[in-house]
Amino acid sequence: MLTNTAKLQAQEVFDENIERRQVPAMKTHTMVLGDGGNDLFAAGVADMDFKAPPYVLDALQRRLDHGIFGYEAVPEGLLLALITWLKQRHGWQVNEEHILRSPNILNSLALAASLFAEEGDNIIVQSPVFFDFYDVVKENHRNLESNPLILKKGRYEFDFEGLERIASKPKSKILFLCNPHNPVGRVWTRDELTQLGDICLRNNVIVVSDEIHADIVFAGHQYTPFASISAEFSDNSITLISPAKSFNIASCCSSFTIISNEAKRKAYQIENSRITANKNNAFASAAMQAAYTSCGPWLDGALDYLQSNLKFLRKELESISGVTLIEPQGTFLAWLDFRALGFTPDELTSFLKQQARWAVTRGQAFGVEGEGFARVNIACTRSTLKTALERLSSAVARLN
Ligand SMILES: Cc1ncc(COP(=O)(O)O)c(C=O)c1O
Repeated sequence: MLTNTAKLQAQEVFDENIERRQVPAMKTHTMVLGDGGNDLFAAGVADMDFKAPPYVLDALQRRLDHGIFGYEAVPEGLLLALITWLKQRHGWQVNEEHILRSPNILNSLALAASLFAEEGDNIIVQSPVFFDFYDVVKENHRNLESNPLILKKGRYEFDFEGLERIASKPKSKILFLCNPHNPVGRVWTRDELTQLGDICLRNNVIVVSDEIHADIVFAGHQYTPFASISAEFSDNSITLISPAKSFNIASCCSSFTIISNEAKRKAYQIENSRITANKNNAFASAAMQAAYTSCGPWLDGALDYLQSNLKFLRKELESISGVTLIEPQGTFLAWLDFRALGFTPDELTSFLKQQARWAVTRGQAFGVEGEGFARVNIACTRSTLKTALERLSSAVARLN
């Protein structure tokens, strides 16, 4: 952990406004913002506006200085760095032989969908959920079965009865779990995951657990790796994990697929090599190893900053009537409920963009249950967030 003085210094680091448009960042790209979007609050894409940790930058510089970028194996120490991170940070002991390298999380979701379900089989999602889950299911010609989350007193919960009903259908083969959950910010508890895992186990539904947001968890909450709960759950699941979100290295990163069941792992490995998704990127390896080895204190500083952004957002929203924060327990994504403003989904999108000058992700992108909501990325500087909230406040005031 950082000392208090070191934490104070760290907070200033996150206050630095860096022009993302100097590189083709998706968040500020015309592909996402459209033409004339230069002054928009760019809070749609799920990465952070913070520079990567200094140890990551040093590792990349050292790798660059070497000057030769021929074919490379996985560096000695990378898997150990991941294993140590998972053990020390999350109390999860993973066997090195169970870890496979993958290009990215979405690739692993697609591979799992095509390997462990047949065309026309059901893949269960719990909406509102990360929009790419829908594309993966559709593009792999699997059938989507949605088991919507239940919003109870401002908090989303699993619908276990619905899950039992859907999981028991003979064609239901896979559940895509988002743990912690994008976009609603729930950090699922061990009890919740146990109930979900038991239902899947009983019905022979494999849990493909996307745990990319594992490290972004706020004080008072605890991330539980799904596969760590029991040997049975581990055997009946595939875990997808990467340091992309935690250290803001999505574009120089790959990911890991953890599979303890030997048959599933072999099948995955064969498919991975059939599509030749097993090459190593030298910069991704260097960045990931440095992140997992040396950047815990940086992440603690980032979490502090995110939590104070969240506190600021919560406070400001108190005086913007008609907009409610669904309190996130983790992830740097805030799920805002605009339903009280009475807009149709399209009207809300255009109000946010034209009036508040916000480029956020429309709630309906996460499923019909998201209509009337929007997902806002709060991993930006405090000054950016402050300006954005001032604009929202004025836009809402003009409605009256
Ligand atoms: C839940 C979730 N899974 C996967 C991804 C994308 O991961 P990758 O870039 O490794 O494919 C994201 C990015 O926003 C995400 O939020």
